[in-house]
Amino acid sequence: MISIVGNGAIGNLLALKCSQKQLPYQLIVRSKAPDSIVCHEQDHVTTLAPSFVSTNALGYTSVDTHSKISPQTVDTHSGCDLLILPLKSYQIVDALKQLKPVISDKVSIVLLHNGMGPHESIQSILPDNPTIIATTSYGAYKPKIDQLNVTGIGRTQAGWLNNDNTNAKAEHIFDILLPPCQWHNNITQILWQKLAVNAVINPLTAMYDIPNGDLLRAEFAEHITTLCEEIARVMNALGMATTKAHLIERCMQVASLTATNFSSMCQDIRLGRRTEIDDINGYVVKQAKRLKIATPFSQHLYENIKKKEAL
Ligand SMILES: NC(=O)c1ccc[n+]([C@@H]2O[C@H](COP(=O)([O-])OP(=O)(O)OC[C@H]3O[C@@H](n4cnc5c(N)ncnc54)[C@H](OP(=O)(O)O)[C@@H]3O)[C@@H](O)[C@H]2O)c1
Repeated sequence: MISIVGNGAIGNLLALKCSQKQLPYQLIVRSKAPDSIVCHEQDHVTTLAPSFVSTNALGYTSVDTHSKISPQTVDTHSGCDLLILPLKSYQIVDALKQLKPVISDKVSIVLLHNGMGPHESIQSILPDNPTIIATTSYGAYKPKIDQLNVTGIGRTQAGWLNNDNTNAKAEHIFDILLPPCQWHNNITQILWQKLAVNAVINPLTAMYDIPNGDLLRAEFAEHITTLCEEIARVMNALGMATTKAHLIERCMQVASLTATNFSSMCQDIRLGRRTEIDDINGYVVKQAKRLKIATPFSQHLYENIKKKEAL
């Protein structure tokens, strides 16, 4: 059984894929569940009627409440062997703490989000569970609670948090959900490459309220160069081979390929929603402080977006 946490956009996309591949799945939700989900994917419309499991039914009502039921609940009641958390980065730690009492250490876990940081927490919350970290460039949008629009077919990058604690069956199942899925022995290095691009495109587009392609304009060159220089220094100190020039090239490529898109951070700010800045530029700044590297412009952007979030 594949358990998908939340009734969000990527979670619904995974539900659609499970349904298409005839894999048994359930959605673990904390708020009201719809009767069905109408999925629009290219020219196809599919109506899903998933099994929704309330987080309350799993034995807890809040992060700090102890489960009244056996820690085997998810396994024995649902036969779960893969638990996927396609959540906003800032929702992951609370969800893991909530689920901890009801999942056995045999369950393989997938963290699927933008940004970095939660992978460090899982080691203290659920240290024994085989854990996949993944990132995808698929696009999905929920205009309402019972509708999913698949907005882009992408690709997925994945790897095990600990290469000595893996599960071949879980890897096989996840492999077929958001294809093509590329597996990496050192997934954190891949996540850093993605983080670097996100740490440039997201805060700048959000700060100036512009589509990604506007970053190709000459007036942004200095900002992009400064950010890439700071991020490359942090990555080098962590043992990753990259250069300022390489990061600038990647950012320009992504800005050009997604020129008309508004980044998720830009949209979050427009809609007055919390952004994932803590696990994007916030993570860069945190690592830089630990390594005693100055990243003043990353810090400035981080503070600017936090101020905008609070408005
Ligand atoms: N959407 C995309 O196109 C896309 C593409 C690539 C990457 N990503 C990344 O993928 C991640 C997920 O994005 P998304 O767009 O799918 O987000 P989303 O639509 O906001 O989905 C998150 C869902 O999880 C639910 N949730 C949060 N904590 C929960 C908990 N403890 N128990 C049960 N449900 C919980 C939320 O419910 P509530 O409504 O109750 O808060 C929400 O329905 C993000 O990191 C995003 O940056 C998204």
